[in-house]
Amino acid sequence: MSTLITNIAELMTQDADHRVLRDAAVVIEGERISWLGSAADAPAADEAVDAGGRALLPGWVDSHTHLIFAGDRTAEFEARMAGESYSAGGIAVTTGATRSTSDFDLTRLAMGRVAEAAAQGTTYLETKTGYGLDVENEARSARIASTVADEVTYLGAHLVPAGTDAEAYTDLVCGPMLAAVRPYVRWADVFCERGAFNEDQSRRVLKACKDAGLGLRVHGNQLGEGPGVRLAVEFGAASVDHVNYLSAGDIDALAGSWSGWENGARTGAGDGPGAAGQRGTVATCLPACDLSTRQPLAPGRELLDAGVQLALASNCNPGTSYTSSMAFCVTTAVLQMRLSVHEAVRAATYGGALALGRESGNDVDGERAVGSIAVGHRADLHLLNAPSATHLAYRPGIPLTHAVWRAGVAQPVR
Ligand code: NIG
Repeated sequence: MSTLITNIAELMTQDADHRVLRDAAVVIEGERISWLGSAADAPAADEAVDAGGRALLPGWVDSHTHLIFAGDRTAEFEARMAGESYSAGGIAVTTGATRSTSDFDLTRLAMGRVAEAAAQGTTYLETKTGYGLDVENEARSARIASTVADEVTYLGAHLVPAGTDAEAYTDLVCGPMLAAVRPYVRWADVFCERGAFNEDQSRRVLKACKDAGLGLRVHGNQLGEGPGVRLAVEFGAASVDHVNYLSAGDIDALAGSWSGWENGARTGAGDGPGAAGQRGTVATCLPACDLSTRQPLAPGRELLDAGVQLALASNCNPGTSYTSSMAFCVTTAVLQMRLSVHEAVRAATYGGALALGRESGNDVDGERAVGSIAVGHRADLHLLNAPSATHLAYRPGIPLTHAVWRAGVAQPVR
């Protein structure tokens, strides 16, 4: 079955050449994109969709969410808006509510959040454990996450539960808890921050998870400068997320991790940063979280200017960022972080895919590349109810999703 989408005013491919096509068309065949180009040259297909002069983008790739939770933290949010500052301690409130919720309800809640994201154009999504914080509940969260999300990250190292010795808990995270979640996860993460895990503990978690064959990411430099970025680069993590407080050395380290990376491929040689086959560490900015916690926005402009690969993600969670709106993140990145619309959309599509190792290859673990529109890539498409992507920032807050295809299948958007 093939579908021709034609009469596209602006086709923002986010491909290796950053192409933006006008008066364009795309053909979907099964789950993949089989053709794109000028509408005048489009081949015939089994069915045709008239885009009506709208803009077509890759579906959003949300590379940082925490969707496996129950409960509500409105009171904490209200206190923050009244002047309290955010601290990691609120994680314990969600952990209590999550532990006392049944598998059925936890799954139903997570599925509802994934559906909410999909209806707004998100077609590929990562989520984390981290509100279980004991062996049984982390394994349960990982299992449920693996049924609702495209990528699952183990975040047993989210908070040391009250009354638990931090070193003993780190042992648990690196040992029995890791073994219990391992069948369900591809990634591991650590909240390396004041009030969560210190440098030594974070290092232990990253080493154990790397030895277990997991890809790595780090929550780092959210509440102050610290070792998060440095550790992420040292361990070859796929991303370091938050990155609000960065030293010049942190920015240099992130940029250095991408030296030799051009148009989606390694050109360097040797075995240092930039070596052939080596990936760098994506800096993932979470602007909705920055606003909701009243932290300074991550320095996205400076990171891009330094040559760092950037992702934008929602960080949907009940504590610091209770939104799944990638459009809101893109809007904020343009209006407040001084990214161009093209850069912000790239960070929310290709950048997220890069942070998840899914930006290239048409048969990676049986999956197709996501986050860009190119022949052979997964047909994850987002049609805006606007003639150009600029409207995402020009008309802030207006729901602009008109249609969404995920792996070639039209999704419900209302
Ligand atoms: O990414 N920073 C750590 N974890 C989450 C917040 C978790 C919470 O407060 O519930 C975040 O912002």
